[in-house]
Amino acid sequence: MSRMRAAVITSSDSGYAGEREDLSGPVIAGMLAESGYEVVHQIILPDDRQILGREMARIADEGLADLILTTGGTGFSERDCMPEATADITERQVPGIPEAMRAYSLRFTGRAMLSRAAAGIRRRTLIVNLPGSPKAVRECLEYILPQLEHGLQILTGEASNCARRD
Ligand code: MTE
Repeated sequence: MSRMRAAVITSSDSGYAGEREDLSGPVIAGMLAESGYEVVHQIILPDDRQILGREMARIADEGLADLILTTGGTGFSERDCMPEATADITERQVPGIPEAMRAYSLRFTGRAMLSRAAAGIRRRTLIVNLPGSPKAVRECLEYILPQLEHGLQILTGEASNCARRD
């Protein structure tokens, strides 16, 4: 099996402006590397629907990464628009991943229900939104990362069925 390639996008006006250190992006990159992914791209962008959508579409269309993990912009503040940017550019929705993340996360905080995170597929790239805090990122990723590999293998054509469980 070839190594899966991943990109990390942080959605944060203050991170983009250099007023706040991005802690969550590096947590994601570290967990991906530990799980055997090659992290090919990492970027901090403002909470701007068009800019976020354009970058995710570019990564997918140029075939740069098999997986894009985003952090931030999934809440209720006026500028939070990551789920909308993701919906704008994905061709197929994958609701089960954010459903599972929220269900699992409720054991840590009831506020998990406030994350509007989405997931979807564009071409051969899976895009998954994660909430913004490093704690939330860790909690969500420890749960979903082990399951993503199988989906990515099917998406990229490295596996063709689900005969093996887990
Ligand atoms: N999920 C987990 N696992 N752990 C958390 O601490 N925080 C929640 C939620 N999801 C949290 C979580 C909170 S407080 C909010 S407001 C939403 O994610 C949205 O976060 P975002 O706006 O930073 O994306």
